[in-house]
Amino acid sequence: MPKTMRAVEITKPGGPEVLAMSEQPVPQPAAGQILIEIAYAGVNRPDALQRAGAYAPPPSASPLPGLEAAGRVAAVGPDVSDWKVGDEVCALLPGGGYAEYAVTPAAHALPVPRGMGLKEAACLPETFFTVWTNVFERGGLKAGELFLVHGGSSGIGTTAIQLASTLGARVFTTAGSDEKCAVCKDLGAERAINYRDEDFVEIVRDAGGADLILDMVGGDYLPRNVRALADDGRLVQIAFLSGPKVELNFAQVMARRLTITGSTLRPQSDLAKARIASALREHVWPLIEAGRIAPVMDSAFPLADAAAAHARIESSGHVGKIVLKVR
Ligand SMILES: NC(=O)c1ccc[n+]([C@@H]2O[C@H](COP(=O)([O-])OP(=O)(O)OC[C@H]3O[C@@H](n4cnc5c(N)ncnc54)[C@H](OP(=O)(O)O)[C@@H]3O)[C@@H](O)[C@H]2O)c1
Repeated sequence: MPKTMRAVEITKPGGPEVLAMSEQPVPQPAAGQILIEIAYAGVNRPDALQRAGAYAPPPSASPLPGLEAAGRVAAVGPDVSDWKVGDEVCALLPGGGYAEYAVTPAAHALPVPRGMGLKEAACLPETFFTVWTNVFERGGLKAGELFLVHGGSSGIGTTAIQLASTLGARVFTTAGSDEKCAVCKDLGAERAINYRDEDFVEIVRDAGGADLILDMVGGDYLPRNVRALADDGRLVQIAFLSGPKVELNFAQVMARRLTITGSTLRPQSDLAKARIASALREHVWPLIEAGRIAPVMDSAFPLADAAAAHARIESSGHVGKIVLKVR
């Protein structure tokens, strides 16, 4: 095992140019952890927020960016019995994925689905953990319900459309171009709304209102989401790309028995994340292995070009997931 590794570090808060290659010590797995020799690392919007100084890692996490990866187990810490050296895994990471090696709790790793390559597998953890816990656990989405997901072409959106439609919900979504809307429909959306041309509130209300909305936009979408909800509808907020502060008339919440909630994955306990991992293994991995759901791949960049990968995700020109090729 080498003592040092190549890794991308955030040299200071700022734009993509603050990402730089560096030499870092190879982390050692503590009790209950595995060390992964990373083949591919997923790039997510929260990585860009962390780079900009707007999303600090939890105190115990690596300061290096990277919330998910796929590769081979290179070492196991004490008390790990689920994995052995050489197993191929994809895993949610507390941080540190933009590197040749990273440690994570053994219970946050999942097997690479049968028939899937490491490149695609690296794209699964962050969005599948997030969508599963917010849409199906917190949001309680059921077959037959009308589900609206904003940002349908994002990593989160492409995952949510596929999972919700495969599990029997009617899916409406918003995206910023006709091309993105076409992809969303191919993935299973019944209605894809180009929000630059059409008003999602009217379209969703005409369809009876949304039973559940998954939103990452916030800002003026908050009152508009409330209007788009059906009676007893639920709104789950997972980000605020347009800002978290807004004026809202809460009388609607009371009169129509609405629920407004939200969550963020990274600060949750190891146990909470382990529970999400086992739910995914039970309910979702069989759907992936049956070929009914697959990550939508946008592009791959060499690890050394992480800045270009960040520029792409922040351009919003992408559809689906961006990965870094580590080895
Ligand atoms: N709470 C959690 O646990 C959690 C976990 C993971 C990710 N997230 C959040 O979920 C969101 C999606 O993540 P991701 O990695 O899938 O992102 P992503 O692929 O970068 O997608 C974001 C997309 O949202 C759309 N969008 C709509 N309004 C926008 C606005 N005001 N500013 C920027 N983009 C806007 C853009 O497409 P168009 O505008 O062209 O449609 C953009 O491509 C991010 O905000 C991320 O921080 C939350």
